[in-house]
Amino acid sequence: MFNRFIKTFVVLGMCLGWSAQAEDAAPRDAAKIVGEVCVGCHGQDGNAMVMGAPKLGGQKADYLVKALMDYKSGARNNAIMAAFSGGLSPAEMKAIGKYFEGQSSTLSVPR
Ligand code: HEC
Repeated sequence: MFNRFIKTFVVLGMCLGWSAQAEDAAPRDAAKIVGEVCVGCHGQDGNAMVMGAPKLGGQKADYLVKALMDYKSGARNNAIMAAFSGGLSPAEMKAIGKYFEGQSSTLSVPR
């Protein structure tokens, strides 16, 4: 069930040309990117919606930016996040990092 969910997202992301975004395009609004791309797994406020997706809300921005950079470069190996970080410019990663740092983490387990 979870696998099928993930595959749908990955395929959807590819269909939308998510990974083909221009590197130097003007940074898009972090909340909007999260709402369009990340929300299904990580939640709009960074409190994960599905098992296996880490909570990002309240996490340090620097950590989140590094994680996204590492997924994109392949230093951190994860097929799902490679696909979803591939379309983000460094400026967008920073904006997203700040956005999630500003959210609060709830102590709960996704069902
Ligand atoms: C299909 C589900 C899915 C989507 C959509 C998704 N992610 Fe993830 N994300 C994951 C999973 C699963 C992991 C854990 C991967 C691993 O084990 O390294 C993860 C890990 C991460 C991490 C590392 C967290 C940590 O604690 O190290 C960050 C940061 C992140 N995602 C940000 C994003 C952003 C930003 C987006 C939208 C652009 C996004 N993700 C979209 C499933 C998803």
